[in-house]
Amino acid sequence: MIVVRGGRPLSGRVEISGAKNAVLPAIVASLLTDEPLVLKRAPGLLDVETQLALVEALGKRVERRGDVIAIHGETRRATAPQEIVSRMRASFLCLGPLIARLGEAHVPLPGGCVIGARPVDLHLAGLARLGVDIRVDGGVVHAAGTPRGGEVWLRYPSVGATEQLLLVGATIPEGVEIVNPAREPEVMDLVRLLAAMGAEVEILEDRFIVRGERLGGAEHAVIPDRIEAGTYLLAGPITGGEVELVEVHPEHLTALLVKLEECGVEVEAEGDRVRASSPGGWRGIEVETAPYPGFPTDLQPQLTAFLSLARGRSVIWERVFESRFGHVGELIRMGARITLQGQAITVEGVGELRGTGVAATDIRAGAALVLAGVAARGETRIRGVEHLRRGYENMEEKLSRLGAKIWVEEASVI
Ligand code: UD1
Repeated sequence: MIVVRGGRPLSGRVEISGAKNAVLPAIVASLLTDEPLVLKRAPGLLDVETQLALVEALGKRVERRGDVIAIHGETRRATAPQEIVSRMRASFLCLGPLIARLGEAHVPLPGGCVIGARPVDLHLAGLARLGVDIRVDGGVVHAAGTPRGGEVWLRYPSVGATEQLLLVGATIPEGVEIVNPAREPEVMDLVRLLAAMGAEVEILEDRFIVRGERLGGAEHAVIPDRIEAGTYLLAGPITGGEVELVEVHPEHLTALLVKLEECGVEVEAEGDRVRASSPGGWRGIEVETAPYPGFPTDLQPQLTAFLSLARGRSVIWERVFESRFGHVGELIRMGARITLQGQAITVEGVGELRGTGVAATDIRAGAALVLAGVAARGETRIRGVEHLRRGYENMEEKLSRLGAKIWVEEASVI
């Protein structure tokens, strides 16, 4: 478990790692070529190891030196191991590249965070529209055929479905038109990578058009992680300190920065840096999560922790996932006043939170509890460290450098 002794202002600089949600599809893109793919600024995360284990199981060889990953070799096998795919939803993205390269794919339905039903119907319907024969049997998706060009309309701009279709479309000369695509910075990073590998992608107002044939290798630097950045940015004001993020793209954080200013937080963004502090406290606000450039669902739990200590009431609508509230009960145990009704959370700000034993149910719920912990009086003991390891590189070190008292204890000490 992670133990946090709270109540100290956190101040200083944090270097932000490469984005988890950008490197995961990039690793899978290696399946589209037999030439080397080199990914720079790859974060050291459990989820990255899982995705690398997946491409290795499919025939690739992986070399890692610091934050540079090189992926070589041929895509040789069409069956993704259940044991790997069940650990993480993003591994399901191998379905498209496998069908594109090998004409068949056998991929178990994905696992991952428990934050909602998270179906993959859009992925499957999209591939079926491109002429792929899809059969689901015993929890495994069996796909066969050669995908052809066409138009796919997404009823919702799903990040994963857009990426799946970009990956497949990049191998189809007639091209794929993805109507109503997701435009998250991580999706656009995949677009840049596919272009570097030789695909053509047109970005239009209502659609992406992607086409390509034989893709080659590439070198690609992954964008900074805007969710990690947002999490650390909140650590300053929530403790009465001041945090400066370095090596970020402030434009990817606009929704958060605007909302923080509305709370009364002082925010400064310049070049690749962002700073936030709030010496006079902050007030409650209303916010709803939405696809990019809306407020990211992946920062909703952390913002909920922050607003627990605001003056007055906040209302947060979770519009992306139907049950992303694993953090709410745990924050209440720490003294937060939160009520949950349907998709809305009402937060009545309290003067202080108190440390206690809590459990992280997913990556961002864990991050919310760490933020609550650094702000709380006393010691917060958070079970479920593995969730934080999935999404935050060197979290204890980064927070310690800001002045936090945070350490990991063996579970047997509970
Ligand atoms: C990605 C991110 C995740 C983030 C989410 C939304 C990765 C590895 N993960 O997840 O951190 O929280 O985007 O920004 O990049 N849906 C369907 N059918 C589908 C696919 C999705 O109904 O076939 C629904 C989901 O249940 C959910 C919503 O669409 O309610 C958003 O999901 P999606 O955008 O696909 O998110 P992920 O790609 O899973």
